[in-house]
Amino acid sequence: MKVLVTGGTGYIGSHTVVELLEENHEVVIIDNLNNSKEETLDNIEKITGKKVKFYNEDLRNKEVLEKIFTEEGIDAVIHFAGFKAVGESVEKPLMYFDNNLISTINLLEVMKEHDVKKLVFSSSCTVYGVPETVPITEDSPLSVMSPYGRTKLIIEDMLRDLTNSDDSWSVIILRYFNPIGAHKSGLIGENPNGIPNNLMPLIVKVANKEMNELKVFGNDYDTKDGTCVRDYIHVVDLAKGHIKALNKLDNKGAHVYNLGTGKGYSVLDIIETFKRVNNVDVPYIFAPRRSGDVPMVYANPEKAFNELGWKAELDIEDMCRDSYNYVVNYKKIGE
Ligand code: UD1
Repeated sequence: MKVLVTGGTGYIGSHTVVELLEENHEVVIIDNLNNSKEETLDNIEKITGKKVKFYNEDLRNKEVLEKIFTEEGIDAVIHFAGFKAVGESVEKPLMYFDNNLISTINLLEVMKEHDVKKLVFSSSCTVYGVPETVPITEDSPLSVMSPYGRTKLIIEDMLRDLTNSDDSWSVIILRYFNPIGAHKSGLIGENPNGIPNNLMPLIVKVANKEMNELKVFGNDYDTKDGTCVRDYIHVVDLAKGHIKALNKLDNKGAHVYNLGTGKGYSVLDIIETFKRVNNVDVPYIFAPRRSGDVPMVYANPEKAFNELGWKAELDIEDMCRDSYNYVVNYKKIGE
């Protein structure tokens, strides 16, 4: 298949592009490099020995999309592109609505015009808000706590309305839990521009002595050690989930799948595992709870196993080892 990957130089996008190429799909990337670097393309080529066609463009530019769909002969789309920082979205909601929603509407309109109606969409467990019970199934109630989360839910709803209106669309919505880790090669990984917000990039910075200590947000939650529990999933497992979804895009309608491991780990579990497998120190202090944090989130991933034949294979040690290996390796490359 020839697959258009929006946001294909980003963290999850780049790992998915590698898996697509390994499965002999052809890939076209559109990305405006807002939160990624062009050298990711060279690193994808180093890993796979294959080149991808790249458009350094913004999805809000509909003319570019028209050109791509006219010239490239796209069969299916995997749509990652979007802003994803929760805190920033609270401060700049219009920027999030403009970027995430307008780009998706443009994409869907151009896909429709060109009769390309196969789509995998990158959603998030953030659409479950504060879950009433864990593990979370796809039928759990939906609610959002930030403009970022709202953009994910609005897009999911748009896709459900679209497939209801026209049954020639085939859409798979993947709700990711907490992706961490990196490709084994150490050539691609999570490399956010600016100061990271998420746990693993911060642990890595502390281990690398770029920061003095990690702040653990809250140690008085009702969990086994008082710190928040999440379902961390290796980004390569997540990427493989997209290949399984792509292969399933002959089922009409919009279908939703959780991509998680089904296991919950606390912040302290992650820190201790990271220290042990990498033989490094990660100094931390306890800090007040972070506003908006949910005590415990983990998936029931059975639907993805039963219907897509996908399950996570890599464990928490692989995730911690590969996250650090990327940064150690990346530093060497950059020097
Ligand atoms: C966050 C977003 C979520 C988004 C996901 C991916 C919030 C409330 N949720 O998930 O919507 O889909 O990122 O980008 O922001 N932690 C610390 N110290 C730190 C950073 C994090 O203790 O310096 C803790 C957090 O309290 C949390 C856990 O680590 O318990 C994971 O945090 P993070 O990596 O930011 O992910 P989420 O908050 O789960």
